[in-house]
Amino acid sequence: DSADQFRFTHLPHPAPVSVAQRTELLANPGFGRVFTDHMAVVRYKEGQGWHNPTIEARAPIALDPAAAVLHYAQEIFEGMKAYRAADGGVVMFRPDANARRFRQSAERMAMAEVPEALFLDAVRELVRADRDWIPSGESASLYLRPFMIASEAFLGVKPSSEYLFIVIASPVGAYFSGGAVSVWVSEEYTRAAPGGTGAAKCGGNYAASLLAQREAKRQNCDQVLFLDAAEHRWIEEMGGMNVFFVMDDGTLVTPPLGGTILPGITRDTLLTLARDRGLTVREERYGIDQCYADAASGRLVEAFACGTAAVVTPIGRFRGHRGEIVIGAGNGADPVTGDLREALIGIQRGQRPDPHGWVQRI
Ligand code: PLP
Ligand code: COI
Repeated sequence: DSADQFRFTHLPHPAPVSVAQRTELLANPGFGRVFTDHMAVVRYKEGQGWHNPTIEARAPIALDPAAAVLHYAQEIFEGMKAYRAADGGVVMFRPDANARRFRQSAERMAMAEVPEALFLDAVRELVRADRDWIPSGESASLYLRPFMIASEAFLGVKPSSEYLFIVIASPVGAYFSGGAVSVWVSEEYTRAAPGGTGAAKCGGNYAASLLAQREAKRQNCDQVLFLDAAEHRWIEEMGGMNVFFVMDDGTLVTPPLGGTILPGITRDTLLTLARDRGLTVREERYGIDQCYADAASGRLVEAFACGTAAVVTPIGRFRGHRGEIVIGAGNGADPVTGDLREALIGIQRGQRPDPHGWVQRI
């Protein structure tokens, strides 16, 4: 049966980090620079399927220089978090949604699909092996990074016949240092076009966003906002998070999923939480000119970014070729954003009732 098929072999770790060193690392981990002792590794080969699931010492991986991922970027990943609950237990938030999106990303990139049960087993086994690495603290968590690469050594352009599915883990603090972020509206670069890979969580989308993100930094902004590729007019999403707008009548507006933006799990969750609160939610196109006009007229009162890394982060201003607009308080003290953020964090960390069954104990 499938449980047997995916039984993970735990290989001994020759030199785990000492308790003292781990404690020091966990005190101030930053984002994505500190890593745990272990990783989960599963291999795929055409004809053999998924095999040899192991939890082993985190270490560099050997790849043939002709491995397809190094040439044609056949790669996908996920981002999710494990939290230390108040009672000392460990919880995860909607991991099944990440498993499903990983499968959908694999399909778009013509990769072998990781069965959702295998994905969830790999993540759970790793979290259990490295549970001492989960930081406690208000905005701290263990960030999980499942990813898959095409490992066949072959230079012809075709879907690889071999893959590596790996999960690594990184204790993290907040992605942004605090307060509201500033956002650069990119006019020159777009992220994804209709028919492209915008809805897949593939590395190539992020490679394509880096120059625009660098431009944002040069303009003293934290993040880049992309417009649609066809008309350069409709707001899509940021480099690594979705975007919401709050109107003065309490309505929430967020761009619709149309294949060019990532279907964020945080986005989906917030839509539900907002509806639960009786807010009107509109998934509809929002033009950048309208956004500037609404900020000027006072109709647009709050804006925020959302994602696994960003959680819910208020946006204080947009800058671009149209000039600069300040949103709401400008300092992040925005009531609707703050309320949704508290509600989300409370459920994610097992501190609030979970009527939708989103939280899983590990
Ligand atoms: N959009 C992009 C481009 C992202 O990288 C992310 C982060 O994962 C998101 C949106 C938000 O997705 P999620 O809420 O599932 O983390
Ligand atoms: C995440 O939120 O999980 C992402 O992948 C986005 C990145 C900014 C870390």
